[in-house]
Amino acid sequence: MPIPQTDPGAFAREHREEILSAITRVVDGGWYILGREVAALEIECADQFGLAQTVGVANGTDALALALRALDIGSGQTVATVSHTAVATVAAIEMAGAAPLFVDIDPSTLNIDPAALAEALLHEHIDAVVVVHLYGQPADMPTILKLANRAGIPVIEDCAQAHGARHGERCVGSFGAAAAFSFYPTKNLGALGDGGLVAGDAEVAARVRSLRQYGWTAERVSEMPGVNSRLDELQAAILRVKLRHLEAGNRRRADIAQAYDLGLNATGLTLPARQPGTTPVFHQYVVRHGDREGLKERLLAHGIDTRVHYPVPVHAMPAYRGRCPIGPGGLPATEQVVAEILSLPMYPEMTDGAVAQVIEALGRSL
Ligand SMILES: Cc1ncc(COP(=O)(O)O)c(C=O)c1O
Repeated sequence: MPIPQTDPGAFAREHREEILSAITRVVDGGWYILGREVAALEIECADQFGLAQTVGVANGTDALALALRALDIGSGQTVATVSHTAVATVAAIEMAGAAPLFVDIDPSTLNIDPAALAEALLHEHIDAVVVVHLYGQPADMPTILKLANRAGIPVIEDCAQAHGARHGERCVGSFGAAAAFSFYPTKNLGALGDGGLVAGDAEVAARVRSLRQYGWTAERVSEMPGVNSRLDELQAAILRVKLRHLEAGNRRRADIAQAYDLGLNATGLTLPARQPGTTPVFHQYVVRHGDREGLKERLLAHGIDTRVHYPVPVHAMPAYRGRCPIGPGGLPATEQVVAEILSLPMYPEMTDGAVAQVIEALGRSL
């Protein structure tokens, strides 16, 4: 049996009874959209991640777009972000009506480079920054917040890949003016379908509560143009089960990452950098190698599935190429790492034996 890169069905197989009893509770309850389960999930996520308030929405892309709209970021405004991310980050900025401006990443952290952001803030008009905590690695929030505060602009955190990751004692999502989470099935906290969550203060939360349902007031009158971006009760009930296991899942991911670190440190691969003072949650364990395509093929021949997150940076995709501005220093690190990155198998249910097999196969493939 080949070792998969990810296994979104593994949790449900291991915790089948817990999941089925949550589903049965919703089926029997007879209320299927925005009810008690969603309300409870919102409170439990806020408690677990130390967030002021949270609002469940239909997916992570909507979460980011609605977070921006709640902060009045939209038409005619420019949002700085990275090109080395899921395209959803950039799609959400445009859904809000704003224009993305790409700044480079730090090649060691693979997250936004604060120095590149500082340069862009000096030379460009920027109205907000979307910071992505890619692969479960917290970006350098203290430095980024200092830069943004000096410029008087809000920071929105894209926490789609970083549920429970910490900078110091604080979880990501609690630093910016607002934050967005995705519950896509492969995420550290993943539904059995789509889901998302916005975090922010009482004002942001109230605006997103209205925006997610046509811009309604309590009287069901639209006071601003909104959308339909509701989280359903089934997904919320399932997510409440999975939230209880998230810490253990994140710890297991960290143990697998440590085993990879130890087993691969003499191979010549570039391994994920460890940022002092942070607790990453290893949504992905991404190595770098000059002959990435050859390595990927050889690993597959040894029964190891790997992925490339992401093979084409957003600025080079046909939908965005040539029409989105790029910060003053260009995107040299983004362009360099894209040819080298490879995501190794990583999911909490991965056995020690499977981890050892990956390490051994890498030893034979390099
Ligand atoms: C970094 C990042 N941002 C945003 C999203 C969007 O989330 P969703 O797929 O739930 O819309 C994702 C996940 O796909 C992601 O990985």
